[in-house]
Amino acid sequence: MTHHARMHLGLRTPNRRDRRFHARIYGDAILMRAIEPPLPPRAALRNAERAISRRRHERLREADWIVQVTRRRAGVAGWRRHGNRLELGIILLPEWQGQGLAVPVMRLLLEKATGLPGVDVLLIRHHPGNARMAAVARALGFLPQSGAECDGMTWCLARERGSACAPDGVS
Ligand SMILES: CC(C)(COP(=O)(O)OP(=O)(O)OC[C@H]1O[C@@H](n2cnc3c(N)ncnc32)[C@H](O)[C@@H]1OP(=O)(O)O)[C@@H](O)C(=O)NCCC(=O)NCCS
Repeated sequence: MTHHARMHLGLRTPNRRDRRFHARIYGDAILMRAIEPPLPPRAALRNAERAISRRRHERLREADWIVQVTRRRAGVAGWRRHGNRLELGIILLPEWQGQGLAVPVMRLLLEKATGLPGVDVLLIRHHPGNARMAAVARALGFLPQSGAECDGMTWCLARERGSACAPDGVS
């Protein structure tokens, strides 16, 4: 049996007890360096509170999930919506990186995104130097976009065959 075979991976909605955990991730300069500037401590806590208290209809637009590995929290994964496009993301704590977790976690996220109304295209965006996330996007079947993206790389997965993965960036 492999190491992974004994682990149970899951995504669950955040609750009050995840407030500090969530805030720590979004406030961590190293974890956030290939994503966006880290949030200062108070803003990170407010951001966590918003993520925890989001109502069901709001979660169609923006949602965070706690990545759970058996009984331990390993990171966060989530989406943000831009029109008919849903951008997916993941942040794993350093001790959970480099073990092949990102692809199965993102598959769980893709399952949760299945059936969201009005979503035609799924996106993954990352900084140009983030080779790991590029490998994850590729492994999930996303296609690299050739369009204008000044700040990084964009990968696209059309919801249905024939739906456009138009290389025009995110509006
Ligand atoms: C990016 C991140 C989610 C990847 O998750 P992970 O579980 O650590 O990734 P893995 O160990 O599964 O590696 C993913 C792939 O990258 C490859 N890889 C690892 N290091 C690499 C490197 N330095 N260069 C190129 N490829 C690399 C792995 O071989 C693997 O590819 P494979 O499945 O084809 O073998 C994780 O490292 C992370 O949370 N980083 C910080 C936050 C972040 O950057 N999030 C992405 C924002 S969009």
